Amino acid sequence: MYGMVHTSLRQMVTEHLGDGAWERICGSKNIESTDVTHPHESYKDEVTLDLLLKAANEFDLSIDDFMELFGQSWIRYASQGKYKSMFRACGADIQTFIGNLDSLHGAISSAMPGTKTGSFKITSSGSGWLTFRYRAARPGLDSFLRGLMKGLMNYFNLLGSVNVIASEERTIEILLKFTPDLSNDVRT
Ligand code: HEM
Repeated sequence: MYGMVHTSLRQMVTEHLGDGAWERICGSKNIESTDVTHPHESYKDEVTLDLLLKAANEFDLSIDDFMELFGQSWIRYASQGKYKSMFRACGADIQTFIGNLDSLHGAISSAMPGTKTGSFKITSSGSGWLTFRYRAARPGLDSFLRGLMKGLMNYFNLLGSVNVIASEERTIEILLKFTPDLSNDVRT
């Protein structure tokens, strides 16, 4: 995966566990810790997977629990810093945002050759709920996706649930239910 994913992972690890944890994660593979975090460089998926497994271990979590947390952390990372304006332009409410994710990734893919970004399609919606289908470019991203959706609900000041309603090898259909979180309207 592109180095921006590793940069976001490093930020999550160092924020919660300190610089030493990131050094251990990279050191155990004899990787120079800065070598894997060039944002616009593409690394083999095995490198990314290895870093994620080692990070899960540092957090003392199963890989599934960790990937859910990492999904939430990615939303915080991508909605701030240099991707902030791109993120905001994707939509002002969760349904519009999910509906525009393929365009967002399309713009990224044209600037970064070789990205594998999957595809989101809203399949039905009503007041306070929607369903969407995600066709993944890689297998095994269900818990990451769950975390991404929890992160998005938090970004849009929503309380809610994420439920898988159908799942095939690389296609997953998800039901999101949400209601405004009136206690937390502090987004800037
Ligand atoms: C400005 C914000 C974002 C940027 C810059 C971004 C960038 C990227 C890039 C570069 C990849 C491909 C990695 C690779 O193949 O090397 C990717 C994959 C992915 N992104 Fe995003 N992304 C953003 C927002 C989001 C959001 C908001 C979601 C979901 C809520 C999302 C979901 C995914 C998923 C699930 C994948 C994995 C694709 C697969 O293997 O199936 N992204 N993103």
